[in-house]
Amino acid sequence: MLSKADRSAAFAVAAALGLFFIGGLLTTVVPPLVDKSWSRPAPGLRPYTEQELHGRAIYVREGCWYCHTQQTRTLVSDTKRSGWRGVDSPISTPDEFVYDSPHMFGTKRTGPDLSRVGGKYDTQWHRTHFRNPRDLVPGSVMPPFPWIVNDEKEFQALVAYIQRLGRAKDWRPDKDYEK
Ligand code: HEC
Repeated sequence: MLSKADRSAAFAVAAALGLFFIGGLLTTVVPPLVDKSWSRPAPGLRPYTEQELHGRAIYVREGCWYCHTQQTRTLVSDTKRSGWRGVDSPISTPDEFVYDSPHMFGTKRTGPDLSRVGGKYDTQWHRTHFRNPRDLVPGSVMPPFPWIVNDEKEFQALVAYIQRLGRAKDWRPDKDYEK
């Protein structure tokens, strides 16, 4: 027996669009209405400083987000990769990103995820790495950014931004590279 959707193309298309619309509402509009914590900053999160915002603008300008994501997903491989000294990193939650507009979640993981990179390396490491990543990581496909390193103000701003990524949650076992 044929159903209504089999007999009428218009009905099939309308029903498909209707279901798609409901699915869209349930996964994008409804969740933040139900869970208000999404729009409240995480307890350890403070607004960006002037310098960090400058660094963030450089991150956008240089297209760092073409290769780097900023979200630790609910995968064991993610929490291990973003972890440090045997401690798994916490997964990313919406309250960590309330000051990010637009967000820098990214989509392509050519390089490692940077959502927990704050505090992982010191300034000198970043200086060497931006000048030529292959000096530190042989075979790295990250391009050198000498023009950033040669402009001390830009370099300091970018590092200030990098160092605060993922620090809203106090999870690192050591505080070595607290700037
Ligand atoms: C063409 C892709 C690409 C671009 C563009 C790129 N990176 Fe990378 N990045 C990588 C790869 C691959 C690695 C891993 C190897 C390495 O450490 O060099 C990496 C590593 C890193 C690391 C170390 C991460 C860790 O956990 O060890 C940082 C920090 C970083 N990149 C920051 C940046 C910043 C900031 C920019 C923009 C100025 C940038 N990257 C642009 C590909 C890229």
